[in-house]
Amino acid sequence: MNAVVEAENLVQVYEVGRGLFRKPARLQAVGGISFAVAPGRTLAIVGESGCGKSTLARMVTLIERPSAGRLVLDGSDATAADLPAEERKRLRRAVQLVFQNPYGSLNPRKTVAAILEAPLAINTSLPRSERQARVADMLARVGLRPEYAQRYPHMFSGGQRQRVAIACALMLSPKLVVADEPVSALDVSIQAQVLNLLADLQADLGLAYLFISHDLGVVRHIAHDVLVMYLGLAIEQGPKERIFARPLHPYTMALLASTPGLARGGRARIVLRGELPSPLNPPQGCVFSTRCPYVTDRCRVERPALRPLDGRRVACHYAEDFLQAEAA
Ligand SMILES: Nc1ncnc2c1ncn2[C@@H]1O[C@H](COP(=O)(O)OP(=O)(O)O)[C@@H](O)[C@H]1O
Ligand SMILES: [Mg+2]
Repeated sequence: MNAVVEAENLVQVYEVGRGLFRKPARLQAVGGISFAVAPGRTLAIVGESGCGKSTLARMVTLIERPSAGRLVLDGSDATAADLPAEERKRLRRAVQLVFQNPYGSLNPRKTVAAILEAPLAINTSLPRSERQARVADMLARVGLRPEYAQRYPHMFSGGQRQRVAIACALMLSPKLVVADEPVSALDVSIQAQVLNLLADLQADLGLAYLFISHDLGVVRHIAHDVLVMYLGLAIEQGPKERIFARPLHPYTMALLASTPGLARGGRARIVLRGELPSPLNPPQGCVFSTRCPYVTDRCRVERPALRPLDGRRVACHYAEDFLQAEAA
């Protein structure tokens, strides 16, 4: 099936001011990421805070234009200079964003009914009665009672508020939902409920998800494919089963080893040392070289390309060695 979103080498570079008399520095938040997501599929983007996940989300949802690369949404090149305004509007409706913190994205002065009706009132010519019917239908879909429509966002729990935010994102029948840490602010028991809801909605509506999380445990059930980011780059990318069963990049190994329930016995436990380097001053060779327990001189000077191996893509000079060690 045709992908809903195809990203080719997306790059985002920010100019960061360093005071009046110094030239602004160049911060590469995303350094060339490629992926595709088909209807009904979920790609999880995982990595530590600061690795560029939200920047990627802003590019895919057309909030920010990439510095370089190509983004095809629902069959249309969103990065084309000559994209007609009407088509851009259509694409903006086709991709919707759900944030970590629904306190910020829901207007506190409006009832849930008014919040959910607004996208329809602005973007469609549906009569009021039809808009209200759709609001009622959407509330039921996300598991909220009909009488909640007249309540205000502050009257809900965190999990309910995230249900409202998801309902709001779905009002215009998008094809792709970008969820940026959608359950990170919720209690663990509530997280599972919201993840189940997202999975049910995907099955019912054929939605494609770009699901962003710093927590591999959270993506474990919902993801079909995984893209592990480090300092703006993809370091391992492919089907979830492959990567979870046999990670081939030391950073993925470390993330898995530190996730309760995903750590495997037998494998040497890799503990992440040190801090994430500043993206203003990234390591010269492999971006992970300053924290990698297997680092060699080659890693410090030569940046490994992302290349196919064992059913996924991985950016480590020694991935073959890890694969053989596992097989032995
Ligand atoms: N508008 C901006 N201007 C300058 N730097 C930014 C901007 N947005 C993000 N950054 C920087 O880009 C890097 C990636 O940020 P972000 O995408 O928010 O990461 P994540 O969501 O993975 O935590 C960080 O170093 C952050 O400070
Ligand atoms: Mg973020």
